[in-house]
Amino acid sequence: MTSEASSTGRGTILIVNGPNLNLLGTREPGIYGHATLVNLQDLVAVAARGHGFDADFIQSNHEGALVDAIHAARDSAVGIVINAGAYTHTSIAIRDALAGVGLPAVEVHISNVHRREEFRHFSYLSAVVDAVIVGAGMHGYELAISYLAKALAR
Ligand code: DQA
Repeated sequence: MTSEASSTGRGTILIVNGPNLNLLGTREPGIYGHATLVNLQDLVAVAARGHGFDADFIQSNHEGALVDAIHAARDSAVGIVINAGAYTHTSIAIRDALAGVGLPAVEVHISNVHRREEFRHFSYLSAVVDAVIVGAGMHGYELAISYLAKALAR
């Protein structure tokens, strides 16, 4: 059995990526690196399986689509990892969706937003999630899954 073997039935973690993250690999590589969204998807699928979870993956550039995906997670997922991109800093709707579904959730940012422009320092989401991971690159998603695996075992 490899680390990519099928899950052991702990449920599904929804991985949500917001606007412009479809451009990973070519977008500002000095900030976001050279790995693509597909690379990220592969990485999180392996990480989730390693902890006995399946991973559902959504990326959208549209705020409402992200809200809909979070709502749908009520019936399909046991936890959420979310990088809402720029909506992090603007979206009360995504904050309310996360609070509304009440699933364990982790906010991830690839870059260290606190080292960047001031408008990136505030997150509407941080107060309604269980943990926030910034600046660890794509490894942040693996850390988030590891956190949820432990939180969901309690
Ligand atoms: C980001 C940081 C946000 O400020 C930015 O708008 C993004 C990506 C990150 O992963 O570092 O799109 O969420």
